[in-house]
Amino acid sequence: MAQNHSQPEDTYITLDRTTLETVLEACLVETELSFLRERIFAYRAGVSALPAYPRALAAPSDVDTIVLQRDAFLGELDQILAARTVRRAVYYLSRLQKGIGEARCSSVNDINLNRWKEYDEVLTDSLWVMDRRDTSGAHRAWYWGNFIPQIPRQLMLRYTRAGEWVLDPFSGSGTTMIECRRLGRHGIGVELSPDVAARAAETVDSEPNPFAVTTDIVVGDSATIDYGPVLASHAIDRVQLVVLHPPYHDIIQFSRHDADLSNAPTVESFIDRFAVVVERARAVLAPQRYLAVVIGDKYHEGEWIPLGFRAMQVVMDQGCTLKSIVVKNLDRTRAKREQQALWRYRALAGGFYVFKHEYIFVFQTP
Ligand SMILES: C[S@@+](CC[C@H](N)C(=O)[O-])C[C@H]1O[C@@H](n2cnc3c(N)ncnc32)[C@H](O)[C@@H]1O
Repeated sequence: MAQNHSQPEDTYITLDRTTLETVLEACLVETELSFLRERIFAYRAGVSALPAYPRALAAPSDVDTIVLQRDAFLGELDQILAARTVRRAVYYLSRLQKGIGEARCSSVNDINLNRWKEYDEVLTDSLWVMDRRDTSGAHRAWYWGNFIPQIPRQLMLRYTRAGEWVLDPFSGSGTTMIECRRLGRHGIGVELSPDVAARAAETVDSEPNPFAVTTDIVVGDSATIDYGPVLASHAIDRVQLVVLHPPYHDIIQFSRHDADLSNAPTVESFIDRFAVVVERARAVLAPQRYLAVVIGDKYHEGEWIPLGFRAMQVVMDQGCTLKSIVVKNLDRTRAKREQQALWRYRALAGGFYVFKHEYIFVFQTP
């Protein structure tokens, strides 16, 4: 079954730290299960009456308060209440105590592994079925060939920490930059077409910037760009995540520019140019960090051209470790829906299957 990919209106609550710590400490020394339960039961009643608010409004925990996802927390209290022995209850209590204490995060994201159950939004399965594009805020979907915002969002949640830098060498309408603003990551986008870059910059600027991050869209060819001065202008020398969403060769022609990868005369030349883009981006990616390629295949003169796997091999040949192949359903635009019957007929007649998926290849640098 596919994981829930929507951005749920997560309900957060703010708890008084001292009260919670006192309740846990008192319960941990309790020897009678019924008394322990009574304490937790009374505390739970108070917690469930607290006002909850969406994730976006959740302030970080501090010395006096703890911000928690309500349902996950109530679930933990319920687990304690359901324990049949003091020993079991103490086990759950200790786990909860540890969870509200220090955060345990990996070096590449802000996911607190001590409270991993609270991250419903973060996907971990390799099949992403997303039938609804996020069209909130500045995500206006004006650009033919953009990706859905949930893709860069998921990648940033898994592979960056707040305040780190994301590079998108095929920035298009700036979808990644908008998500950077929402998640508090800095972003650099490179886009070949000046008109597209200008409109993207305007769109990105219409998105609120609550974490005051930089989102810079540079006009340039990502196969020849010198990232040195671009990074230096932001006083950095490395980025922590690269998200590449190249043209799927000539499926959509993005411009008439020769350097546009959608104008590469053959699949071979497309792959060669893509390899150069990857090489440049990889050179400024910090060690042991992640690079993702979002790409679909194409069909040409009766033959399925596996652009995705060709692109995947390019990155592996540059010494990156393949961490995941994610298959994502292609969202159905109105135009595609109208053509559906025609494609079904063609598929039946031509001996092929109609494209319904694209890939997200995830790599880690050595
Ligand atoms: C598939 S789109 C990316 C869309 C983007 N993810 C979005 O959500 O809007 C590919 C983009 O790469 C740009 N592009 C093509 N060749 C390029 C190159 N050599 N350097 C930089 N951008 C290029 C195209 O103009 C197009 O906007």
